[in-house]
Amino acid sequence: MTITIKDAAGIAAMRTACRLAAEVLDQLTPHIQPGITTLEIDRLSAEIMKQQGTVSATIGYQPPGYPAYPAHLCTSVNQVVCHGIPNDKPLKKGDIVNVDVTVIKDGWYGDTSRMFMIGDCSIAAKRLVSTTYDAMWKGIEMVRPGARLGDIGHAIQKFAEGLGFSIVREFCGHGIGQRFHEEPQVLHYGKPGTLDELKPGMIFTIEPMINAGKRDIKEALNDGWTIVTKDRSLSAQWEHSVLVTETGYEVLTLSAGSPAIPAFVKTLQPTAATA
Ligand code: MF3
Ligand code: CO
Ligand code: CO
Repeated sequence: MTITIKDAAGIAAMRTACRLAAEVLDQLTPHIQPGITTLEIDRLSAEIMKQQGTVSATIGYQPPGYPAYPAHLCTSVNQVVCHGIPNDKPLKKGDIVNVDVTVIKDGWYGDTSRMFMIGDCSIAAKRLVSTTYDAMWKGIEMVRPGARLGDIGHAIQKFAEGLGFSIVREFCGHGIGQRFHEEPQVLHYGKPGTLDELKPGMIFTIEPMINAGKRDIKEALNDGWTIVTKDRSLSAQWEHSVLVTETGYEVLTLSAGSPAIPAFVKTLQPTAATA
């Protein structure tokens, strides 16, 4: 088992698939308001994917030991850590929700998620959401040839734990390409200088799940998917798919509606002209 290196054609295909995944989130954004149900968000996403000519990677997805996932995306509200299944409960002011979209375009997978704050949220919720966003970017910043996976995990862990938050250990980022989940596993904690060395052409996700309380999780319901914090504290997650370039990184899941890159990020994202 090895980490796949994408060639120029594969990278071009991944740029497209990843941008389309991000554009699903862009198009959903105006609808994610108090009163909408996560099932309505799911239905909207199905229409958007149809218009795009993409297919949901999650619907029917069935890793060993899991039931087939029943929806076009994941919606993880408040204490739900990940893999929340859309339902008919309306979102209400003060909720925080992660919407995680994975599409397939011409056989290539693009995977990204964002947090949405429904109306006014508590200061604690805002702080969790923005810290998790910054933590993802602290990880992304480490990506360059010669760096190691442990450098990414360490940067995320140091930043988030330093602000008093905890990092979920049971789920991680992953290689992505012509399969949804490839090698390597991208842990969101770790030691600098450890684990695999990054090489140009690798593509993987960075998707930290960060809790306001303790890091422990449990299975929520008998649906085989939904994961919640054991102490019922809030949990947040952001996800980008990232290419290792010759000089650093290129975030593939950026789109017009992506939130601003944090000011502390000094490395320039390549544009179409420089890529
Ligand atoms: N999109 C998730 C990830 O980032 C995986 C969701 S699998 C599902 O890896 F079946 F729950 F949709
Ligand atoms: Co992912
Ligand atoms: Co995802």
